[in-house]
Amino acid sequence: MKPDIDWANLGFGYIPTDYRYVSNFKDGAWDEGALVTDATITLSECACVFQYSQSCFEGLKAYYTKDGHIVCFRPDLNASRMAETAARLEMPPFPEDRFVEAVKQVVAANKDFVPPYGSGATLYIRPFMIGSDAVIGVKPANEYHFRIFVTPVGPYFKGGAKPMTIKVSDFDRAAPHGTGHIKAGLNYAMSLHPIVVAHQEGYAENMYLDPQTRTKVEETGGANFIFVTKDGTLVTPKSPSILPSITRRSLMYVAEHYLGMKVEEREVLLSEVPDFAECGLCGTAAVISPVGRIVDHGRVIDLPSGMEEMGPYTRKLYDTLTGIQMGRIDPPEGWVVKIA
Ligand code: PLP
Ligand code: COI
Repeated sequence: MKPDIDWANLGFGYIPTDYRYVSNFKDGAWDEGALVTDATITLSECACVFQYSQSCFEGLKAYYTKDGHIVCFRPDLNASRMAETAARLEMPPFPEDRFVEAVKQVVAANKDFVPPYGSGATLYIRPFMIGSDAVIGVKPANEYHFRIFVTPVGPYFKGGAKPMTIKVSDFDRAAPHGTGHIKAGLNYAMSLHPIVVAHQEGYAENMYLDPQTRTKVEETGGANFIFVTKDGTLVTPKSPSILPSITRRSLMYVAEHYLGMKVEEREVLLSEVPDFAECGLCGTAAVISPVGRIVDHGRVIDLPSGMEEMGPYTRKLYDTLTGIQMGRIDPPEGWVVKIA
């Protein structure tokens, strides 16, 4: 039955859908996996995920294209990033080809929840994995639960395309030795207090600095940074402790090959931020959300692009990326995967 959802006014929240994909790892192997209807999980109180946070996740989206197909964006990169995260956490990687097939299956089974083309909403896909059997000594679990659920979502940041004000965080999210390149529950738990503080103070997000020197720009709690220089070069921070964003990798390609921009992935010092013309947050959930103002402990950095609309380069990057994702612009080979 078609769900009764007001697509245009959807926030970024969880709405249970009809099906989720589940596979369990036991005795050294993943089972064949299946679509199930139960949105709950029953586990031992001593499951490794509860005691030692052995968990990781991914995030990607499915869309209706202009010509009426359902597609998703670069799921192979989520599959490989999740395998890398799993390895770092001593979890058994879920086979990458099966990951992509499972994404297709679960989206197709929930096709009534894929928001219509042009509604501004999308279907967010959340694959995750947890250590599921009882472990009391500090060691990895023996059994694992892999699951993918989907939920229709609207914009991640309230206000949509309006530029936001963010703050330079007083907290570190990543450890100094750099584990931020994994997408794991514990990393995000470390950003919960900083985001509550930032919201209480009226900021939309935190700019985290490198935990070792606190002089270099890293990322935010849920997105990477992109900057544009006054002469139109895309600059994005290089760091071992940020998540290698698939959106950012895609934007670097789009900037160079579709828009003819110069692209630099390099260390970005906080002290050079006032020289940039535009700033945005990029990610699956954030897409590209413009930043107009950054507050560094009372020092206000206003981006020349202002607080009214996204800057011209950010706008071009946004239009081209979303155009590729939604079938208005020809994608590079393999980026857009047809589901239905
Ligand atoms: N950085 C963090 C901390 C994130 O949570 C996300 C979202 O997944 C990103 C960056 C953006 O990554 P991607 O573009 O692969 O969604
Ligand atoms: C994503 O963009 O997929 C993320 O994981 C960000 C999260 C804050 C929702």
